Amino acid sequence: MMRFARSVVRRGDVLPGSMGADLLAKVESGEVRREECPALMIDYLAPSLDTTISAIASALWLLATHPDQWQALRADPSLVPNAVNEVVRVESPLRAFSRWVAADTEVAGTPLRRGSRVVVLYASANRDERVWDRPDDVDVTRDASQQLGFGQGVHGCAGQGLARLETQAILRSLLERVDRLELTGPATWGRNNIIHSLDRLPLRLVPVQEAAR
Ligand code: HEM
Repeated sequence: MMRFARSVVRRGDVLPGSMGADLLAKVESGEVRREECPALMIDYLAPSLDTTISAIASALWLLATHPDQWQALRADPSLVPNAVNEVVRVESPLRAFSRWVAADTEVAGTPLRRGSRVVVLYASANRDERVWDRPDDVDVTRDASQQLGFGQGVHGCAGQGLARLETQAILRSLLERVDRLELTGPATWGRNNIIHSLDRLPLRLVPVQEAAR
């Protein structure tokens, strides 16, 4: 990926109006050094892959194992954006990130000293029973817009618009064609402290025409 980013910077091969173009313009204006550009590009690209792959696979897994939710989406495809929030809430593709504490503070009665390192568990917040009714249930009709799976605030996920677009597009195109999703074997989850994702998801997509026969 780094080799690719270096060659993009070397060739100036970026789309007009893109973030890459903005970055290279900053090189011309002297605000960013050219040698910093490949890493800055990677900082945008790297978080885009496993996370979105995980969200899409988790969506398919949840909808295969909760057929009533797939049928609810088929009956009302306008629920798709909400379903994506619900998938990110229930399966939080990025489980956690860490933070350095900038100043002495306190969170929920626990003192945090400046300079200590804390882990922010998005996956736990997304199932906080003080916030969510039936937190472990998958419900595409609930308002899941307050989920924290994309983080929050100034460093909230910079690519969440794209991630939502991709996941919604896949679900919408499947809704038109697929009557139901069936697991054809056991799904297995990968072992990773940060990314929560499926290693294996054997699925059969039963087409609408076949189900009608
Ligand atoms: C479902 C897919 C995704 C999930 C669940 C996700 C989740 C997150 C989370 C939890 C953070 C940390 C927020 C924080 O520190 O509070 C983050 C940051 C970030 N994400 Fe995503 N992400 C996804 C997809 C993407 C995509 C597609 C891109 C790029 C195209 C992207 C680019 C970034 C970048 C650049 C940051 C760092 C933002 C900053 O520190 O200012 N992410 N993401």
